[in-house]
Amino acid sequence: MKRLGLALALLGCVAAQPSPYSSQRPGGANSDPLENPRDLSGRSVKTARIRMIHDRYLPGSSGWLMEHDPWLAYQWGRDLGRREFSHADGAFGDSGRLGGKILDDQATPLMSRDHINSCVACHNVPFRDMGAGMTIQKNAGSGRNTPHSFGGGVVEMIGQEIRSQLLARADLNQDGWLSFREAEGEAWVAPMPGERQSYGRYNDGNQDGRPDLNPILYVWYVDKGGQRIPWARNLKAAGVAGYNFEVQVFGHGQRDRVGHGALSSTLRAVSSNAWDIHSGLQAHDPTASTEVTHDGLCKVSYCGAQQYYTGFTRDLGTVCNGHGVSLDDPDRDGVCEEVSEGDMDILEFHLLNHPRPAQKVDRRFLTGQRTFGAIGCTECHRSQWHISNDRRFFDLETDFQQGHMTGQLHRLSGGPRQFVGIYSDFRHHDMGDDFYETQYDGSRTRAFRTSPLWGVGSTAPYGHDGASLCLDDVIRRHGGAGQAARIAYEGLSDPQRDDLHHFLQGLVLYSTDSLPCDIDGDGVVSQHLLVCGQDTGREVFNPEWLFRHPGQIEGVVEAPDGGTIISRALVNVQQAYGLTLRGLIDRDQDGFPDMLRVLSRR
Ligand code: HEC
Ligand code: HEC
Repeated sequence: MKRLGLALALLGCVAAQPSPYSSQRPGGANSDPLENPRDLSGRSVKTARIRMIHDRYLPGSSGWLMEHDPWLAYQWGRDLGRREFSHADGAFGDSGRLGGKILDDQATPLMSRDHINSCVACHNVPFRDMGAGMTIQKNAGSGRNTPHSFGGGVVEMIGQEIRSQLLARADLNQDGWLSFREAEGEAWVAPMPGERQSYGRYNDGNQDGRPDLNPILYVWYVDKGGQRIPWARNLKAAGVAGYNFEVQVFGHGQRDRVGHGALSSTLRAVSSNAWDIHSGLQAHDPTASTEVTHDGLCKVSYCGAQQYYTGFTRDLGTVCNGHGVSLDDPDRDGVCEEVSEGDMDILEFHLLNHPRPAQKVDRRFLTGQRTFGAIGCTECHRSQWHISNDRRFFDLETDFQQGHMTGQLHRLSGGPRQFVGIYSDFRHHDMGDDFYETQYDGSRTRAFRTSPLWGVGSTAPYGHDGASLCLDDVIRRHGGAGQAARIAYEGLSDPQRDDLHHFLQGLVLYSTDSLPCDIDGDGVVSQHLLVCGQDTGREVFNPEWLFRHPGQIEGVVEAPDGGTIISRALVNVQQAYGLTLRGLIDRDQDGFPDMLRVLSRR
């Protein structure tokens, strides 16, 4: 082994020696576990922390990977969500402080800061997959429950679709915003061709100074040139000539605040905000923080998603070094550019492509599904959505037969697509007293996003506050706009209700990297998938098998407790993970690619 290490060093790719502040486990059966921590299941993050460079042409940069080795880009993004960040990476500058946006009293912060060092510590069910999770201290003492992000890209694309349809309907001169004269009539979209779903009205009929639109639309006010007036809070403010908006499809819902509204409408902005508030990691992300013409719109990401000013990050790169690395260090912990623009690219790429939840369809599922429609649940929990351009690069279709779930991978190449089984109208509704949230400052949130029910069978507890411990409780809690449906639900016979529950329990999440899955497109799930000449066992959806240089496992090895096991640790981590590509070489292990030649610490 020693000699091999030396040979690699001469080639210029030293096997990474993790610092005491790193959590990756690249090692296998034959590595020294103290120098090279191991995980023989092969499931841990294997690469040292290195900021990704935002570029399309440099080998190993974010855009290059998306184009030339998309599965590797997907896995790097996935690893960012799974990684446990350390002090050395800049985590936890302000633990224990209150922070975030300000509530209606203009003084009370929304939440506490810097409590978790990894996305998947909250998004934990299932583990490793940005699932649903725990209830945290946020908005109110009652708490906020962590939703899953399966199918996150589909949700984001639906939000974009809603926005473009709503704009197209009213923006007659096509200048990208709505003037007073244009803001007329009903705001509606066609979730499916020929259907019609209302988002309120474009104008201010009730004279409260705001357009009468569903609160899932976050509105900002603009002058006669379409430029955002940062201090304008309503249509009556001086100089306001109209407005523009985004569709904040993520998060349970917030009050229409003076600041930036709810969770932003893009995966990218939701994620960079999450890193900052939960882990003290600030992203330097010009894609999301460059408002080119001050109209509220920022750049379009490499993944093709329009970004908005609500997704500004705190690390604005006011002072940069010669390579464009921000030296701002907003949390003053001595670590610069804790998250790079390229990191945001690939995390976004991962979340965009993260598979949809699955369905365990059987006879009772279908019976329950019919009841669900018949008693009016689908008025809000809408199943089908159509989008005009699918930006994902693959879709994972699941199938449930005789108690077993399998998957089938499909490559995609853009174009329109229809999704079935999301179960949300992506609107906010007043669900009655039992759902009202009294925020820390006493202001009340009365309307919430219709929770997309895909995955709901795996995500107890329920409600924005996680206060309903089972499905029956959360359904019986429906009041307000959901009152009629709840009464119909209560009127069901026991067997009908059981079938309805069976249907909801059949909307599930799953562990993506354990799912038996046809990934090579030969139509079967092999029991002995050969990758690089090694028998990896049952064919599963492990992105490593799909890399441009597929992962080569160790195979049969002796286990410390006797006998033999199949080690799925990789013997070619360096090559498989692209660590020999220019943009990803980090010999001094400071977490920045060598070619940036930065001093990572001030
Ligand atoms: C401390 C727990 C916690 C951590 C850590 C965390 N999240 Fe979240 N996440 C939440 C909660 C709670 C919500 C819902 C917030 C709300 O509605 O107000 C959420 C919502 C989301 C959503 C929107 C999902 C939906 O359907 O509405 C996405 C996407 C997301 N988080 C991604 C991330 C990413 C990426 C990271 C890591 C960079 C992360 N989260 C870290 C708790 C967490
Ligand atoms: C008027 C719209 C509306 C109707 C009709 C409606 N719901 Fe809901 N539903 C919501 C909203 C809004 C929420 C989110 C409440 C919250 O997060 O606090 C929700 C939440 C849920 C949840 C919890 C999901 C989660 O992940 O926490 C379930 C389960 C649910 N609804 C099932 C049903 C069923 C079953 C019916 C039919 C009997 C129904 N809903 C009818 C709007 C509706």
